[in-house]
Amino acid sequence: MSNLTHSELKITNMQTIESNKKNTIIENSIDENSIDLPDFTSDSYKDAYSRINAIVIEGEQEAHDNYVSLATLIPNELEELTKLAKMELKHKRGFTACGRNLGVQADMIFAKEFFSNLHGNFQTALKDGKTTTCLLIQAILIEAFAISAYHVYIRVADPFAKKITQGVVKDEYLHLNYGQEWLKENLATCKEELMEANKVNLPLIKKMLDQVAEDASVLAMDKEELMEEFMIAYQDTLLEIGLDNREIARMAMAAIV
Ligand SMILES: [Fe+2]
Ligand SMILES: [Fe+2]
Repeated sequence: MSNLTHSELKITNMQTIESNKKNTIIENSIDENSIDLPDFTSDSYKDAYSRINAIVIEGEQEAHDNYVSLATLIPNELEELTKLAKMELKHKRGFTACGRNLGVQADMIFAKEFFSNLHGNFQTALKDGKTTTCLLIQAILIEAFAISAYHVYIRVADPFAKKITQGVVKDEYLHLNYGQEWLKENLATCKEELMEANKVNLPLIKKMLDQVAEDASVLAMDKEELMEEFMIAYQDTLLEIGLDNREIARMAMAAIV
């Protein structure tokens, strides 16, 4: 993905999503020949997987809960948001099966702690009725984080998890798109809150990436690549929302702390 041009990575509509999927498929077939896959049965792999898998399972559960909560802030979109929430539970079941398939017990206590700051910020924004902040946290930051991490993972996953993750990532694009379109439509009134929410929450995403880097590397996922993929997806989304290059650069700077 990092070899694609900026415009190739833009997600403007389903057509672009389709072409992205094709790019991923082509890329995967190349990668399969060039990357040595890790030993999925080793103790070190299983140990790292117990935390990564838990983060993913918890992330999908949080995503479900967040879309259910968002429906209380945007009640006229209850049906759509309920649909998104249900997809997240399906993802959770898929990733739970991935852990089971490898004989790994997910470390859910670790994962709850991992999400606690972001979870707290979402809950505070929800209580204050801050739709923009809630959407930035769930539909933009968490979805972009998931999409980028899943793309990196797909290249080095075991065959069972690879298939599951490929199905999931398609859905996550729809979720990102949902948040993107809402923020685009409301940009005139939500820009200031968007900037503020970014300043508070983007550093958390960076911190979470740092925290997971060592375990991710055991799974053959490179930290720099994870961060690059995330920043590309995030900045492309901000561009689609309607922010200009200077505003996006200013927002991205919040990750460098
Ligand atoms: Fe999901
Ligand atoms: Fe999602």
